[in-house]
Amino acid sequence: MNIERTLSIIKPDGVEKNLIGEVYRRFEQAGLRIVASRMLQLSQAQAEAFYAVHRERPFYRDLVNYMISGPVVAQVLEGENAIERHREIMGATDPKKAAKGTIRADLAASIEENVVHGSDGAETARNEIAFFFAQSDICPRLR
Ligand code: CMP
Repeated sequence: MNIERTLSIIKPDGVEKNLIGEVYRRFEQAGLRIVASRMLQLSQAQAEAFYAVHRERPFYRDLVNYMISGPVVAQVLEGENAIERHREIMGATDPKKAAKGTIRADLAASIEENVVHGSDGAETARNEIAFFFAQSDICPRLR
């Protein structure tokens, strides 16, 4: 068993459209366990830091402004191959390219308003989990 943890965010459009339960249902139905969860309003500095890897990209400023436009819900997901599994459930970044039945294909409006974020690899997952959660916030479910 390759039990992993990954960081997931329900973005402002997902919260605004009342999709928190729908997104959690999809995670749980796929066998991922929510082992930490919090709602928060990101500050501009937090959003800039979280997406610092994209700071040279043309969409960076709009992305930061969008991510601070309303509250987000951050969670740690745990399970077998959780990083890749979560990415499969989310679908491609651009909803137009996302496979049918994925969160983004079914629920997202655009590449920016794409409902969810997920870590893209093991090191990113470690860093992104630490961005939102202290070790003591995480309640392991699989051992
Ligand atoms: P996310 O997985 O959160 O990582 C970076 C985000 O930038 C991405 O989802 C998109 O919502 C957003 N974004 C906006 N425009 C683009 C673009 N042209 N290419 C990639 N990501 C974009």
